[in-house]
Amino acid sequence: MPSTTPYAPGRFLFGGDYNPEQWPRETRAEDIALMRRAKVNTATIGVFSWAVLEPSEGRYDAAWLDEVVGELAAAGIGFFLATPTASPPPWFTLAHPDALPIRDDGTPVLHGSRDTYAISAPAYRAAARAVAGFLARRYGDHPGLRGWHVHNEYGTIDHGPHAARAFRVWLEARYGSIAALNEAWSTAFWSQRYGDWDEILPPRQTQYLHNPAQLVDFKRFNSDEMLAAFTEQRDEIRASGSAAPITSNLMLPTWNHLEQWSWSDAQDLVSIDHYLDTTGPDGETHVAYGSDLTRSWAGGPWVLMEQNATGIRVGDRVFAKGPDRMIRNSLGYIARGAQSSLFFQWRASAGGAELWHGALVPHAGADTEVFASVVRLGELLERIGEAAQPPATGPVVEAEIGIVWDAEGWWSWETPHLPTDAVGYSEEVRAAHRALWLSGRAVDFVRPGADATGYSMLVVPALYAMTRATAEWLERYVQTGGNLVVTFGSGIADESQRVIVGGYPGMLRSLLGVRGEQIVPLADDDAVTLDNGLEGVVWTELLHAESAETLARYGSGALSGRPAITRCPSGSGTATYVSTKLAPGSLNAFLADLATEFGVAPVVDGAAALGVEAVRRRGAEADYLFLMHHGDSPVRLDGSGTDLVSGASDSIPLEAGAVAVVRETGRDWSIRRL
Ligand code: GLA
Repeated sequence: MPSTTPYAPGRFLFGGDYNPEQWPRETRAEDIALMRRAKVNTATIGVFSWAVLEPSEGRYDAAWLDEVVGELAAAGIGFFLATPTASPPPWFTLAHPDALPIRDDGTPVLHGSRDTYAISAPAYRAAARAVAGFLARRYGDHPGLRGWHVHNEYGTIDHGPHAARAFRVWLEARYGSIAALNEAWSTAFWSQRYGDWDEILPPRQTQYLHNPAQLVDFKRFNSDEMLAAFTEQRDEIRASGSAAPITSNLMLPTWNHLEQWSWSDAQDLVSIDHYLDTTGPDGETHVAYGSDLTRSWAGGPWVLMEQNATGIRVGDRVFAKGPDRMIRNSLGYIARGAQSSLFFQWRASAGGAELWHGALVPHAGADTEVFASVVRLGELLERIGEAAQPPATGPVVEAEIGIVWDAEGWWSWETPHLPTDAVGYSEEVRAAHRALWLSGRAVDFVRPGADATGYSMLVVPALYAMTRATAEWLERYVQTGGNLVVTFGSGIADESQRVIVGGYPGMLRSLLGVRGEQIVPLADDDAVTLDNGLEGVVWTELLHAESAETLARYGSGALSGRPAITRCPSGSGTATYVSTKLAPGSLNAFLADLATEFGVAPVVDGAAALGVEAVRRRGAEADYLFLMHHGDSPVRLDGSGTDLVSGASDSIPLEAGAVAVVRETGRDWSIRRL
């Protein structure tokens, strides 16, 4: 678990990716002046600078970077220094064509974009270590260095010969014998039996369906292989003597290449890039989702390395985010443990592939509403700076509800030919989180096997494959008094994607006290009503309640009259099973009711219904109630504390769209519409 808290005394980190190498030298003076005006205190530099830093193999030119760090330092602005290894320069790929990635159809991916590297190619790994070592020796003890930003969003998947070789080594370490691999991969089916490690390939284009166990193992392998590449750079940096914390920015929400718990273990601090995927109100839920996930991975405070200041890309266009939303979102991340509000990027590029991406300084310059909002955010962050110091002990955000997160769950649902392809793991996890967000409750994500005893309620959304150890961990949680809520499709298969036969969900049958006979998917336009009024879609199950009691039955459709939701007491806890995918409104109501039943209260009762997101962030000296008003009419909160934003005490008015950060002297708050 990462131990370092990125924290500048009394301040949150504010700024973003700074790429002065894209601009004439004169622009830098203006940049620094504008950064000072906006109270920017952190720049992320060097992210894709390999070609300017090492113009030809082994010949480094860092004079420009010396100037940049010098100018930043002179202005009192700290920096994350990136290793530029996400974008090998053209000379590198020409010298080492074998180090280019190969797609699953055999097509080589050539330079001309970014991220063109084969992660297992020895030449790439050596070059990456070398450039990381060069930077570490040159800047490792620079007083302005806030941390190392290794690479950028690891995630290029190679299917070529280097990947094949490394995959085989990884498989041999995992399985020990080819017989064990054949067993785990169920290769007796379709004559896939392997006689020797060298016969195994990464999943490449093939005639029909891929082997699901092979697909998931290739995912595991890639996460481990990229982690090994990260670790080499990390160790190179540490060997230089640099004491600055080391991170690599993970990507949410679309990246599913990494197993984030093990990645978090290997980093000094955990950072993510987060981009909204909707213009609608669900964007706010998404901020909370990304933040709660990252805080949980980190086990505490974390760094928001990138967000977009002005735009939300949905499909083929970029919609405006708006200044109030940008500020509310920025506080939303911080409320849930972020130590920073950093953006991609500082100044909008005039050329290159991302010239239409949002920025703190837009194309039109500083005399803009965008830059005015950036200045506003800088002032706001300064006003709430005292909240930046995390508590000496205990969590930065307290939660009594946990949701199990397992990257492998996502990979399982991507294997082909499941009962329906209409289920996505992250959609299910996010739906559970959204339901609890809408009810105003604080939530953590939980690693399978972690200590879950502090959670009154633990939700396992759609975890199709799991290990026996995970099933036993869930059993212990219930035995010792926990309230487990398992949703459809969970516990069906083992970690090799083999169904546990004898009735679904085989891994959890005795815990849940049920036996499923058949999965009965529904058509997209179909739905069933349960006899408690809830609605099920996509997935239903012919289920027998054995030792479980039936809480709700299917009230329509082919399974009418059969159990749909069950509960089984066990030890001093309970295990609830929801055998259908509840439609969004139904899931929201169901999980909110369970939270009430299990004694978990909203942070501020009634706030969510008025559109106010209330999050309590614990600090070193006090607790801070963050209020983000996403609704449309003014409200007032009455309680005990002082708003660092407006200065109001005890009776805090909040306009629609506004934010407050209340240093609490009590936790008892009421809210009403004005
Ligand atoms: C990622 C990258 C950035 C940039 C942004 C665009 O997060 O790290 O370099 O490409 O996406 O949204």
